[in-house]
Order: sequence, then structure tokens, then C-alpha cells
Amino acid sequence: MRRKVTVVGAGNVGATVAQRVFDKGYADVALIDIVEGLPQGKALDMLESGPVLGSDATIVGSNAYEVSANSDIVVITSGIARRPGMSRDDLLFTNMNIIGDVTKKVVAQSPNAILIIVTNPLDAMAQHAYEVSGFPRERVIGMAGVLDSARFRTFVAQELKVSVQDVHAYVLGGHGDQMVPLVGYTNVGGVPINQLLSKERLDAIVKRTRDGGAEIVNLLKTGSAYYAPSASVVSMVEAILLDKKQVLPCCVLLKGEYNVRDLYVGVPVKLGAKGMEEIVQLVLSPEEYVELRKSAEAVRELVNLMHEKAKAKA
Ligand code: NAI
Ligand code: 2OP
Repeated sequence: MRRKVTVVGAGNVGATVAQRVFDKGYADVALIDIVEGLPQGKALDMLESGPVLGSDATIVGSNAYEVSANSDIVVITSGIARRPGMSRDDLLFTNMNIIGDVTKKVVAQSPNAILIIVTNPLDAMAQHAYEVSGFPRERVIGMAGVLDSARFRTFVAQELKVSVQDVHAYVLGGHGDQMVPLVGYTNVGGVPINQLLSKERLDAIVKRTRDGGAEIVNLLKTGSAYYAPSASVVSMVEAILLDKKQVLPCCVLLKGEYNVRDLYVGVPVKLGAKGMEEIVQLVLSPEEYVELRKSAEAVRELVNLMHEKAKAKA
């Protein structure tokens, strides 16, 4: 029997994740959205590509959660993006409500699933899904580090005219302006990056990575990135479905690792059939620890706002 992946949110990121998983053919897909007709239409369109692409998987779209029953993995992309005139807090609370509602519905149908959260603000939404789901931390994982690291690797490869596959890099911390590209662990075919690039060029690449999401928004004007984000999600889906034990930077609940407690922040983890199977402890420089702490503090502020909101509602 094929495995099953549900994607909630049939917008740019969700539909592209569904398409990439369906095209691979190793999992059946359920696509859910609140807009009537949208997931149904996109799923049917993808299904009809099966004979051309050679995928025998099934894909079904729905506005109800029954189609997601017994999923192995649920990817949550539902939410809104920030619009002009909206504060960061407006986005936080709107998406917090959406993630809370969606998580409850998903968990009722698939109590053993592994959740991959994508909706922004990513770290806070992953924390909220964890708290609402009642799942162990191993089964609630946020996607951001794979994307941020991919952007960093792209820019380094472009600069040095080398294969992207030879550039190894991790971006840790929260998915925001304070993310932490680990320059000390970046290498090209094993050669440390600071032997290949000047500090000035490296600083420019780090800055472009931090601004990577905004660079795409400024070009697209009506939405945010989804090709690289969906590819990043699918690399996590594959690591889990194929039990790869792959080390990828993911947003997970830290319980003292990296001197951070009870907070979702991006760190390298081993992904396999059980979800997050291990937190990989890199030795950081004192400066990198300071940067990671600052990044974690920015996430903590949002999580505190969410907790205050929830208390006021209760
Ligand atoms: P989009 O606007 O294209 O799609 C969002 C979809 O969610 C829409 O189809 C909408 O109808 C649906 N939706 C809204 N409320 C819902 C609900 N209660 N139940 C089910 N579906 C619902 O947005 P896009 O580009 O797909 O981005 C989705 C989210 O992912 C955004 O929050 C975005 O900021 C975030 N994102 C995060 C990244 C990361 O690295 N973690 C990368 C890219 C996007
Ligand atoms: C990005 O980094 C919007 O979080 C999204 O592209």
C-alpha cells in the first residue's frame, strides 16, 4: 500500500508541494482548502497528469478533513500572508487561529501522523501546532532551515561558479531577519568558505540570504516564494517517508539543546521514519551562540504574545 500525505492549504506552496509529491508517485495525496472547488480542481488537474508523468498515485481535493484520514504526514500551509496595512501581530493572531483550527481537525483524522508546519510566522506557528496537537515534539516539525540554507547555498555556488551540490551550509535560528547562517560550517567540497571568499563578499551573501524571502516578494508583488519552499518541504517528506536519517536544518522544540528551552527554533536534526529522531549538537562559536540566542528571543516574543492572547480568550 502506498503511504499517504495530506497537504492543507491549496495555495501556492500547498499546491506545489502536492504536485511534487504526486509526481514522485510514492504517496497518495489529499489536498484540503477552505475555498470551495480550489483543492478539488487542482487535485483533479494533477491526477490527469498521471498518465503523462507515469504516476499511479491518487490525489483527491476536498474542503472536509475525512479525505485526510490515516495520513502518514500532514503538511500545513494554510494561512494568510501579510498585506499592506497589516501589522505582524495581525498576521500572527489570524494565522494562529487558522493553525489551531486546522491542527485539531487534522489530528482527529490522523492521530499518528507527523506534522510539517509551513505557515508564517513559522517558528511561532510550529510551536502553536505542537501545543494544540498534544503530539510529542518528534512529530511536529517546522520547515524553514532547508529553504534558508538552500538560498545561502545558491548564492555561494553562483559566486564561486561551483555546483550547488558541493556547497554545504546550515542556516539555523528563527525564520526571520535574525536567522543565523553558520559561516564556520560552510564549505565547498570540504574547503572552508572563508578560504574561498572575502569577509566582505560573505557578509553580502549572508545579508542576501536573510532578505531572501523579501527579495522574491518584491519581485512577485502579489505573493511570496513557493518553488524553493515546496522543494524544501518535499525533501523533509522524503527523508521521513523513505526513513533516510538525513540531517536537515528544521524548526523543532528545544528542551535545553543549544541553551534554548521550551521553544521552537531551527537547528540541525536527523529526520527519519519517526520524524525528528535526533537533535544534532554542533559546536558553535561564542558569537554564533549570541546570534542564535537573539534569534530565539525574537521567536519567544511572538510565542509570548500568542500565550497572552490565548489566556485573554480563556
Ligand atoms: P497562499 O495564499 O497562496 O495559500 C494559502 C492557502 O491557505 C489559500 O488557498 C487559502 O484559501 C488557504 N486557507 C486559509 N485559511 C484556511 C483554513 N482555515 N483552512 C484551510 N485552508 C485555508 O499562500 P502560500 O504562498 O501558499 O503561503 C502559505 C503560507 O506559507 C504563508 O503563511 C506563507 O507566509 C508561508 N510560507 C512559509 C515559508 C517557510 O519557509 N516556512 C515559505 C513560503 C511560504
Ligand atoms: C520565504 O522565506 C515567505 O517565508 C517565506 O520566502
